[in-house]
Amino acid sequence: MFIRILGAPLLAVACLAAPMAAAEEPIKVGMILEMSGPFADLGRQILNGANAYIKAHGDKVAGRQIELIVKDTTGASPDVAKRLAQELITNDNVDFLAGFGLTPNALAVAPLATEAHKPTIIMNAATSVITTRSPYIARVSMTLPQVTAPLATWAIKSGIKSVYTLVSDYGPGIDAETTFKKTFTEAGGKIVGSVRVPLRNPEFAPFLQRIKDARPQAVFIFLPGSSEQPVAFMKGFAERELNKAGIRLIATGDVTEDGVLEAMGETPLGVVTTHHYSVAHEGAQNRAFLKAYAEIAGPGVRPNFMAVGGWDGMAAIYEVARRLNGQIDGDKAMEVLKGLRIDSPRGPLVIDPETRDPIQTVYVRRVQKVNGKPYNVEFEQIPDVKDPGK
Ligand code: PHB
Repeated sequence: MFIRILGAPLLAVACLAAPMAAAEEPIKVGMILEMSGPFADLGRQILNGANAYIKAHGDKVAGRQIELIVKDTTGASPDVAKRLAQELITNDNVDFLAGFGLTPNALAVAPLATEAHKPTIIMNAATSVITTRSPYIARVSMTLPQVTAPLATWAIKSGIKSVYTLVSDYGPGIDAETTFKKTFTEAGGKIVGSVRVPLRNPEFAPFLQRIKDARPQAVFIFLPGSSEQPVAFMKGFAERELNKAGIRLIATGDVTEDGVLEAMGETPLGVVTTHHYSVAHEGAQNRAFLKAYAEIAGPGVRPNFMAVGGWDGMAAIYEVARRLNGQIDGDKAMEVLKGLRIDSPRGPLVIDPETRDPIQTVYVRRVQKVNGKPYNVEFEQIPDVKDPGK
């Protein structure tokens, strides 16, 4: 009797205290990003995009503060990414893992996401296989097969019959090469040569000469965006006079991404690419994004598709928090993410409930000057593209 009387009020106090404590705790988002080293621009773009979203929409959702905890992988460093994820899960008790510019870092964290039931939002890394590595991963960016297949189709339609491919020798590059070859040859095109360059410090000069000697109608390339590599390639392309030899350059939009386009001079003018986002995209969502981004990054600093990934990843996290009334549970979060529609700066996207990858419009764009500055100007669109890599 005595125990029961004493137990009842104690239990009541405990019950009252728990939801209050949860309401005061922030929703923690562990951001695993490349913030230093040769890929530091990926981290900067993604983080600026995420912070722009918070600035534009307020730092509270469902009554709880949003807190970003940023950890630096220092580059393509799977072991570091894994350790950081472990710390974020165990020490910081984060509600979400997010970020991931580079594929090797995302792949390294997948088993931990599964083990800890942590909803993990991929804001850039774009190798098709990533979402198959954990049921707790959802992606808001793109996949390389998704943006590459429409380019191969466009090339055939435009009378290009022979192509040399050059890609970065890791997940997204291999996805791009495989998809381009398959779609292009099935439609009657010929691949006259293929080369893969290392992810770290690639040298383009010897390959450019080889490509020039092979005399293809076009060269198709994928190199990681937000790095110096596309700029270096473009410089070599002009120096070896491949353009003067009549060889066209076609690429995924990673190569002419908005952040580096101005640094490339005249060489990319006329280059056709396919991708899901251009700064020049018309629409209210993009205007709101560009305004908020300028407030975070400073006026005149261009965001690219990775910044859009950071913005949209936060949009997904806010929506999950709202629908779960601020009580984040890994399994329930994944149910919200499957089929979620996001009104992105790129146009609307839906997270495919089966693959947890975005279904979205892919745009065909041409680099041209608008008011004296180079942009990726969209001139064709293919709606509702799913990842063909699955
Ligand atoms: C990746 O590592 O998955 C990646 C990096 C840069 C890109 C696209 C994909 O532009």
